[in-house]
Amino acid sequence: MKSFLGWQYNEMKQVGTDYNDVANVQAYDMQMQKLRDIKKENETIIKTLNLISDRTLIEFGTGTGNFAIEAAGQCKKVIAIDVSPQMLEFAQKKAGQKGILNVEFHNAGFLTYNHSGAKVDAVVSQLALHHLPDFWKLIALKRIFGMLKNRWEIFLKRYCLFF
Ligand SMILES: C[S@@+](CC[C@H](N)C(=O)[O-])C[C@H]1O[C@@H](n2cnc3c(N)ncnc32)[C@H](O)[C@@H]1O
Repeated sequence: MKSFLGWQYNEMKQVGTDYNDVANVQAYDMQMQKLRDIKKENETIIKTLNLISDRTLIEFGTGTGNFAIEAAGQCKKVIAIDVSPQMLEFAQKKAGQKGILNVEFHNAGFLTYNHSGAKVDAVVSQLALHHLPDFWKLIALKRIFGMLKNRWEIFLKRYCLFF
C-alpha cells in the first residue's frame, strides 16, 4: 500500500465510477465496445505515433487494456499502468488470451509510477487524465515529459522554431 503525505493527492483512491469493483470493470469493457470504434481509435494512434517494432511506450490509465494489447502487437514493449488492480487483472487476462506477452502491467498512476528503465518513445493516455485535479494534471504532464526519449529535441522543434 502506497502512503501519501497530507498535501499530496492520493490518486489510488477511486473517484466517480469505482473501477476497483469487478462488475464495473466488466460493464465498462462491454459498454466501450458498443459506444466506441476502438479498433479505429487504436489504428489512428498507432499510425500517428509511427509505432514500429523497436519502439517502447507507456500507457497511463490502460483500463481494460484494449490499446496496450493492440500496440504491443506492433512494437517492442508496452508498459501499461493503472491505479485499479481489477482493471489490470482484466487487461492482463485479455492479453494472455490473445497471446500477447510484451505488456508489463503496473499498479500505479500518473503521479506514483516510477520509471526506472530506458526512456520510452511515446506515452499514451485516453480518458484517464481527467481523473486528476487540474494542478496535479500539470505535475503528471511534467513527469511524463521526463519519461520520453529525445524530449529536448521534441520541445525545441515544437516551441522554439517560432523564435
Ligand atoms: C475511463 S477509464 C479509460 C480506460 C482506457 N484508457 C480506455 O480508453 O478505455 C479510466 C481509467 O483510468 C484509471 N485511472 C484513474 N485515475 C488514474 C491515475 N491517477 N493514474 C492512472 N490511471 C488512472 C482508472 O482506473 C481507469 O482504468
